Amino acid sequence: MTPEKLCELAKEAMSRAYAPYSGYYVGAALLCSDGTVYQGCNIENASFSPTNCAERTAFFKAIYDGHRDFEAIAICGGKEGKITGLFPPCGVCRQVMREFCRDDFKVYMITPEGYELKTLTELLPSSFSL
Ligand code: THU
Repeated sequence: MTPEKLCELAKEAMSRAYAPYSGYYVGAALLCSDGTVYQGCNIENASFSPTNCAERTAFFKAIYDGHRDFEAIAICGGKEGKITGLFPPCGVCRQVMREFCRDDFKVYMITPEGYELKTLTELLPSSFSL
């Protein structure tokens, strides 16, 4: 799985977003170590706080299916699905990554031109875990 292909799958996932409140469509594609890819979208709620981010949708689908070993995630988002810049993962999603991923887990943040790559440690230094 190339980074480019993973990014394509994240872009495809944006179209599944349920985002009637913010209008931001977000997509994610999570690569498991065995090569399986899980796609996720954001799922909003009238009560706002139950909203689930695209990244966590992908993680929770994968975890439920029994996956525990992850290589990378590609993420994109934008108003009405138009990618105009980076859409970095929120703090809650970074903490979920921390629970299941190694320090060198790769996060591809899609841009209009391509992507920016950071590791989980770069995105969440001095992190909390048990
Ligand atoms: N969102 C994500 O899906 N992932 C993030 O990491 C940040 C935010 C979603 C939640 C909400 O539906 C919309 O983006 C605007 O905050």
